[in-house]
Amino acid sequence: MALISLLLLAALLPYLGHSASVNVGIVNGTQAKPHSRPYMVSVQVNGIHFCGGFLVSERLVMTAAHCWNKKPTFTVVLGAHDLSDKNEATVRVAVEKYQVHPQYRHDNTYDYDIMLLQLKETVKKSKTVDLITIPKKDEDIPPNAACSIAGWGKTGTNKSGSNQLLETPTKIIDKRRCNHLWDMSLTPRMVCAFHPGGSCWGDSGGPLVCNNVAVGIVSFGDENTCENPIKPDVYTKISVVYPWIKSVLKYV
Ligand SMILES: *[C@@H]1O[C@H](CO)[C@@H](O)[C@H](O)[C@H]1NC(C)=O
Ligand SMILES: *[C@@H]1O[C@H](CO)[C@@H](O)[C@H](O)[C@H]1NC(C)=O
Repeated sequence: MALISLLLLAALLPYLGHSASVNVGIVNGTQAKPHSRPYMVSVQVNGIHFCGGFLVSERLVMTAAHCWNKKPTFTVVLGAHDLSDKNEATVRVAVEKYQVHPQYRHDNTYDYDIMLLQLKETVKKSKTVDLITIPKKDEDIPPNAACSIAGWGKTGTNKSGSNQLLETPTKIIDKRRCNHLWDMSLTPRMVCAFHPGGSCWGDSGGPLVCNNVAVGIVSFGDENTCENPIKPDVYTKISVVYPWIKSVLKYV
C-alpha cells in the first residue's frame, strides 16, 4: 500500500491479511516521462508517500478506501514526478474531508474500495496538474483491453519504492478467469488486469487507465509475490460506483 516500513504498515492496517495484500509499487515498469500523467497524486503522511491517487475534479482526489484507517492525516501532492527532488514545483494540499464509500467494510473483502479526498482548496490546473476523465456509465471493459498503471510504490516484494513515477502497460483479463485464478468470486465492483507489469506495495489508490480514462483504482494483488504473481491484480471498477461519486461531486 505504501512506501513505508512494513512495521508502520502493520500498525496502520491491522485488518489486512489473508490471501490478499494491499498493493504499493510498479513491477516491470519504466520511468514515466515527467508530468506526462498530470492527474497523478502522491498521497502522503508526514511527507512520506503512502498511496497513489488521481485528480478527478478541482476539489477531489480519488484513491482506495483501504489507504485510510481513520488515523493518518493525508496531504495530497500534485504535479510531482521525483519525490526526492526538493526543487520540484509541486502543489501540496490538505484534505478537508475523507469520503469513504458507505458500503466499504474494513473486513478484508476490499469491496467498494474507493475513497474521495475532498481538498481544502480548489486546485488550479496547469501543465503539471490536471484532471483525468472517469467513466460516467456502467460499461464493461473488454478483456485484453490495453491499459496502464503508474505509481511510486515498490518495484518488487523485497525492493524499495521508486522516487520517480513508474508506469507499465497491463491487460484487462476476463472476470471468470480472474475468479478462477483467485479461487473466489470477485464482486461486480472489481475488475482484473495482468501482465506484462503489475502493482506492488505503495501503488494502492492509483488509477488503471484505458484510453486516457481512469476505469479502475489499484486495490489488491497476490500476496508477497509482486514480481511474479499467480493471481491478477484487482482494481475497483469506477463505473459501477459512479452514482455515489456523482452524489459526492454535487456537494463539493
Ligand atoms: C522476500 O524476503 C523474505 C524474507 O527474507 C523471503 O522469505 C521471501 O522469499 C522474499 N521474497 C522474494 C519475492 O524475494
Ligand atoms: C514481469 O516480467 C516477467 C518476465 O517477463 C514475468 O515473468 C512476470 O510475471 C512479470 N510480472 C508481472 C507483475 O507481470
